Amino acid sequence: MTDEAATPLLQAREVSVRFGGVNALAGVTVAVDAGEVVGLIGPNGAGKTTLVNVLSGFQRPTSGSVRFDGRDVTRWAGHQRARAGLVRTFQAVRLFPAMTVTENLQAAGIAGGRPVAAAEAHARELVRSFGLSAYSDAPAAGLPHGVERRVGILRVLATRPRVILLDEPAAGLNERESDMLGQSLHDIRAEYGVGICVIEHDMRLIMSRCDRVHVLASGSTLAAGTPQEIRAHEAVIDAYLGAG
Ligand SMILES: Nc1ncnc2c1ncn2[C@@H]1O[C@H](COP(=O)(O)OP(=O)(O)OP(=O)(O)O)[C@@H](O)[C@H]1O
Ligand SMILES: [Mg+2]
Repeated sequence: MTDEAATPLLQAREVSVRFGGVNALAGVTVAVDAGEVVGLIGPNGAGKTTLVNVLSGFQRPTSGSVRFDGRDVTRWAGHQRARAGLVRTFQAVRLFPAMTVTENLQAAGIAGGRPVAAAEAHARELVRSFGLSAYSDAPAAGLPHGVERRVGILRVLATRPRVILLDEPAAGLNERESDMLGQSLHDIRAEYGVGICVIEHDMRLIMSRCDRVHVLASGSTLAAGTPQEIRAHEAVIDAYLGAG
């Protein structure tokens, strides 16, 4: 057994990011393995988005490193990491509005290197297995909010990633839509073995769908553990969850 065998699929090691006088991150270590959902939570300005930016290659850390699939990818650009299977979504979904749901997923598959026919077959399979058949041939432009959000995530999945990083995928969704999105995350992890790191303020989603939760506060790790451990963690309750 080499060291690498024990190394998680994706890991940020002792990452720090300084913006002028602001320590957005100060020595944060976090890991995401294949087939697990890791929640990233914390108060506004805690450094969550900055950490996802560092993991995905959209922010160079001031110090520390990022390892993916046994390689040091700290200096890799975002598109290089995406090609290697480390993909992120942005807060705003940008589907092609005139294309149907299936066509959007197919286009993503083609962009990810699949032949046209295989990409279409996979797009149809995704639509079916994620319960979106009713929207299969609907143009993306008129989709309900929650459906649009889920298609945005499937669009990432169509590129055959190994790890997906999501920044507040449930923001603005109602309870039911958020539950459906959580179910999709669960299915993606179960059926595709993809590792998922999800930033969310929706604690119902975090506590019901995550295998592990990592809590940031003021750029540092406040706590890390199972949802049960985090829910009972006094410093986390004080800094973020509150008594309720
Ligand atoms: N490009 C930037 N330039 C300067 N400061 C920044 C930049 N991006 C983030 N910051 C600062 O870094 C800190 C962490 O910000 P970040 O966006 O990572 O927090 P967050 O946990 O994602 O917050 P939220 O829950 O509000 O999305 C904040 O103090 C923020 O103001
Ligand atoms: Mg953020």
